[in-house]
Amino acid sequence: MPISIALDTNYLKPEIVPEEINAQKPVVDFLHNVLHSRTGAGNDYLGWLEPWKMMPVGEVERIKAAANKLRECTDVLVVIGIGGSYLGARAVIEALGADEKERVLFAGQNISAAYHKELIEKLRGRKFAINVISKSGTTTEPAIAFRIIRKMLEDEVGAAEASKLIIATTDSEKGALRKLACENGYETFTVPADVGGRFSVLSAVGLLPIAYAGIDVNELISGASACAEVLEDSDIEANTAYRYAAIRNRLYAKGFGIEILASFEPRLHYLAEWWKQLYGESEGKQGMGIFPASVDFTTDLHSLGQWIQQGRRVVFETFIDVEYGEAEVVVPKASDDGDGLSYLEGKSLHDINREAYKATALAHREGGVPNMTLRVPRLDARVFGELIYFFEKACAMSGYLMGVNPFDQPGVEAYKRHMFTLLGKPGY
Ligand code: PA5
Repeated sequence: MPISIALDTNYLKPEIVPEEINAQKPVVDFLHNVLHSRTGAGNDYLGWLEPWKMMPVGEVERIKAAANKLRECTDVLVVIGIGGSYLGARAVIEALGADEKERVLFAGQNISAAYHKELIEKLRGRKFAINVISKSGTTTEPAIAFRIIRKMLEDEVGAAEASKLIIATTDSEKGALRKLACENGYETFTVPADVGGRFSVLSAVGLLPIAYAGIDVNELISGASACAEVLEDSDIEANTAYRYAAIRNRLYAKGFGIEILASFEPRLHYLAEWWKQLYGESEGKQGMGIFPASVDFTTDLHSLGQWIQQGRRVVFETFIDVEYGEAEVVVPKASDDGDGLSYLEGKSLHDINREAYKATALAHREGGVPNMTLRVPRLDARVFGELIYFFEKACAMSGYLMGVNPFDQPGVEAYKRHMFTLLGKPGY
């Protein structure tokens, strides 16, 4: 079955022409074989390549059962994690959670006192559970948040009851979190050893909070799995993820060092945040990498729009266009035309929003910003699963095309060393 994501490349010309994309066929084909034969850099971290294997049916059912059990006895789930242990779940829940997203709160993605104080106030008087997520089990930000929120829970319901309301998602053996979970009898889920944080949204890392938010995780996985099958084709003409990767690579070679992911749907804000981590950590190394940025249009057309239209010509854009919107809101009739909007009467907001997208893509093209569009018919769990896998597969190819290992992040350690020294951590 074909996937629903289409790639519109009409506004890449004149910087990039189809012949130039197709000229990359041999190298893409070669790197596809490197990826799939698991002989390239980072080949220990390819568990995400086959979503159906990464998440066997029994494990998905166990996740759903745990999430449902918590949903029945609590009002809120506090999801504690950072980076790849946070952004994927947030992206899916913000996009698809509708009203239920209010039931999932996040912590541990910053060390702000004000943020955590506000969170504590929000939790007061509400029945809550905790899902603490850390592959390494030793990351400082979520560890601090877990200590704070766990104490609050224990103070409210007692240590024994609290243990039943805490689920830890971590490495199968290593790390402080695994040890804590064993000692306190928390239910646990495992982050697959062969899946790095930013590729882990479709494992227990993302699926448990997503299931708690009432989103169909089977549909997500089946969208990703269908996408995986289609994207097994090494031919750049059939494989839209490879095509996207090859285009990025050519634009980068021509001096376009910044990619802006642009959406006209506010609920996709966190998809862009997830995407930025995926591409930023995967490609930004060895003095190379496209800087991944994002904008929420039309909001940011009234701030960053000026820069994009007429600033330094080093950016390219990737739009996400959603063809059909569910919420049918129309511009109502008014008794007079005082606001000058009669010409829009009866028109749906979604249609107006899409015209704004088309106008922006054209204006930015005219302003010297090569751009392309990823078009999806609608936003639901299946399409979202496709999008997640699409970006992951494209990222792997893009990193290989750039000549880096897309699956490590050695640079993330640098700030930690200084922070631990400043904080007086033993051994630093
Ligand atoms: O992609 C990654 O590997 C990182 O962003 C990690 O997900 C992030 O640093 C959190 O790590 P951990 O899950 O070990 O707490």
